[in-house]
Amino acid sequence: MDLLLAGQSPPILGVGLIGSGSAQAAQVISNDQLSQRVDTNDEWIRTRTGIGRRRVSTPGQSLVDLAAEAGRSALTMAGRSPQDLDLILLATSTPDDLFGSAPRVQAELGATNAVAFDLTAACSGFLFAVVTAAQYLRTGAMRRALVIGADQLSRFVDWDDRRSCVLFGDGAGAVLLETTHQDGLLGFQLQSDGSRGAVLNLPAVDISAPLVDGAEHRAGGYRPIEMNGQEVYKFAVREVPAVLQSLLKRCDVSPDQLDWLLLHQANQRILDAVADRLSLPRTKVLSNLSSYGNTSAATIPLMLDEAVRDGRIRSGDLLASSGFGAGLSWGAALLRWQGPA
Ligand code: UT7
Repeated sequence: MDLLLAGQSPPILGVGLIGSGSAQAAQVISNDQLSQRVDTNDEWIRTRTGIGRRRVSTPGQSLVDLAAEAGRSALTMAGRSPQDLDLILLATSTPDDLFGSAPRVQAELGATNAVAFDLTAACSGFLFAVVTAAQYLRTGAMRRALVIGADQLSRFVDWDDRRSCVLFGDGAGAVLLETTHQDGLLGFQLQSDGSRGAVLNLPAVDISAPLVDGAEHRAGGYRPIEMNGQEVYKFAVREVPAVLQSLLKRCDVSPDQLDWLLLHQANQRILDAVADRLSLPRTKVLSNLSSYGNTSAATIPLMLDEAVRDGRIRSGDLLASSGFGAGLSWGAALLRWQGPA
């Protein structure tokens, strides 16, 4: 999918980002606690990743619980009611139900006028979902969309694999989009490359089970996350600056015009490398990795909500955002935060 610039055909209506929300998993697990389980230590994890702790859901806390709480809080900030929603898009790779968890979120919220469905693009999912929702709004087909990024990778992490288990956590974040005169999605560029997808997977089990005489079926279920960390790292530090530079150029925006860089929170070293490549001061790079680790589709809206609520992101601020991860998938969007009226 290629770039769409505001002002070029076919945009009809602007898309405003008018509310944000987030929800956290109940348990806090420190690096020291993880070192009780695998051969690791706080110093290694902090130095190599910037992560100090992560949140992990309790068995009683569902993905739908997290997503609905984040969505409710975005609605409250925006001053809108659930019945005002036309669309709920849930970006997740870890639904409670493979048939889709978005309709359950819709029911939890009481958003009786909204159509709701899941979208899966791993850690890029939230950005892909914002762009997708915006297309419905731009055409005038819909007026308000709640975009939620939520994941519970703790259900699929191999907690005995120190190379990956230290990275991930659970969480949810949400943004409310509404048609407005001032456009908040100034451009985007989304990319996929399945030929390189083997470096990060949450694969289906590949075993056969007898069905009837002479026939077998493929058994259900998934294996834990499999990751080649170094390859994912190289992919991120090459593609993220490239997609951001391409987007900014096509939007005629220079990096120094940005108020914030809002990246998928995977590793502090990746955030720093991208900032350096764009010649952006690290003070403009939002990071909450130390508290949450990598929450997959939730990282960008979780970070956005935190910075909006503590006053760092203010109405009118210009943000360059980039998501990247399994697929491989990656992308960037140039956003202007509007906030509630
Ligand atoms: O949303 C995208 C999700 N994935 C990512 O973002 C992953 C991107 N990659 C990374 O963030 C980094 O590659 C990691 C943090 C995963 C690993 O950092 P690294 O600097 O690439 O370390 P490495 O894999 O080169 O391993 C260096 C050493 C190895 O020991 P030896 O072979 O040199 O003796 C590892 O066995 O560190 C060891 N190691 C650990 N030691 C203590 C690996 N994990 C750990 C650990 N604690 N948790």
